[in-house]
Amino acid sequence: MKKVGSQNKETQAILDCYFKRTTKSRELNSEATRSLPGGDTRQSVYFYPYPTYMVRGEGCYIFDQDGNQYIDYMNNYTSLFHGHNHRKIREVVTKQLTCGTVFGAPHKSQFELADIICERVPSIENIRFCNSGTEATMLAIRAARAYTGKDKIIKMEGGYHGTHDVAEASVSPSLEEAGDAESPNVVPYSRGIPENTFENVVIVPFNNVQATKSAIHAHRDELAAIIVEPVMNAAGTIPATKEYLRFLRDITKKEGILLIFDEVATLRMSFGGAQQYYEITPDLTTLGKIIGGGLPVGAFGGREDIMSMFSPKEGTLHHAGTFNGHPLAMVAGIVAMQESTIEVYKQVNALGDSLRKGINDVFADIGIAGSTSGMGSLLTIHYTTNEIKDYRDSKRAQDGSGQLPTFMHLCLLNHGIFMASRGQLALSTPMREDEIRGAVNAIREACVTLKPYIHQFLPHLIK
Ligand SMILES: Cc1ncc(COP(=O)(O)O)c(C=O)c1O
Repeated sequence: MKKVGSQNKETQAILDCYFKRTTKSRELNSEATRSLPGGDTRQSVYFYPYPTYMVRGEGCYIFDQDGNQYIDYMNNYTSLFHGHNHRKIREVVTKQLTCGTVFGAPHKSQFELADIICERVPSIENIRFCNSGTEATMLAIRAARAYTGKDKIIKMEGGYHGTHDVAEASVSPSLEEAGDAESPNVVPYSRGIPENTFENVVIVPFNNVQATKSAIHAHRDELAAIIVEPVMNAAGTIPATKEYLRFLRDITKKEGILLIFDEVATLRMSFGGAQQYYEITPDLTTLGKIIGGGLPVGAFGGREDIMSMFSPKEGTLHHAGTFNGHPLAMVAGIVAMQESTIEVYKQVNALGDSLRKGINDVFADIGIAGSTSGMGSLLTIHYTTNEIKDYRDSKRAQDGSGQLPTFMHLCLLNHGIFMASRGQLALSTPMREDEIRGAVNAIREACVTLKPYIHQFLPHLIK
């Protein structure tokens, strides 16, 4: 088992409590290592000392193998907008199951979900389905390259667009590897990617107009697209400034470069996605997560003249996939979208504001340098009071917080709060003020528990 650094009696007590509450998870994790490397098949859900094995979810609650109950603030990394076991989603999926799962033929649920999304998301005139956000961004980039006849892509430092080769550029570089802040190095996130993949990727700092402008000017004749998350998700829930997205829209139009918004996570920000909130319409948009109502899905869409390259009648771009437009995901997605009304967005976003304020107040009351970033129903805890504007701000805070996020995460699990181990919380629509209070109270207790540890090992975080 991987060792976690300096510990004192409080952190040892947190670990002991976790071991005691989750004996079955520990056994299962050990069984899992028989055939899964490290017992794992999705690294983002692994955490120290072993992940909790869940068995059931109901609304915004989730239950583990040992019978512990948690408020689910993970929501499968933001994708379960309506929580678990939503009655209407369950009904349509069950009905579809009794008719068969997938047919090797089109199914009307595909264009029904497509119609709903095209109606809602300003940039999407035409759309195609795939099975993950990874595929969606890979295909949007391919479309941009085919449309422009150019190869280079601009990607934000810290941007996460899934696990295909191009997307693995500078996802989480160390600050040493990352180099000059104004002109960052391209740092592979994973081994096994041909070096020349990154010859076609230019990395820019998020929210930095001047540095991005210089990069665009330096590569203007070679650029197919700029891909950006309007709110950076994995990098620490960092909203773009409106000025930055407006700048990207204007300059890409002027230079004949396509603008891709990766809204795989941010469709949960507003009825028509973050692009509607920011009032900026990209050329292409990628989606995933919430549009599948809890089933695996991805989609990419945008301007009709670009998307028509995929038409099997006169198109020139290939896009297949055994499970594309899977009827189970489509029928679940239709209901998930129908249930995501403007009112529902307002309610969940207001709860997000309340949670951010509640957590910020706890840090201030207890005297710990902590804060939240985010927007709408997404937020991330950072151990700093400095503003988080880009990847490096987030990384600096992370580097300065040692093992505190690990113990905060475990302590919150012990208090019945399930969130991403990186400190991200995602709300779901069944939540109400009670669940917000539950999280804020748990974070308060965890801060009180961890304050002596912070004093001892991270004194710079005591305020
Ligand atoms: C913004 C963004 N793009 C793409 C992806 C990749 O999606 P998937 O995990 O479905 O491949 C994610 C996943 O977290 C994401 O947050």
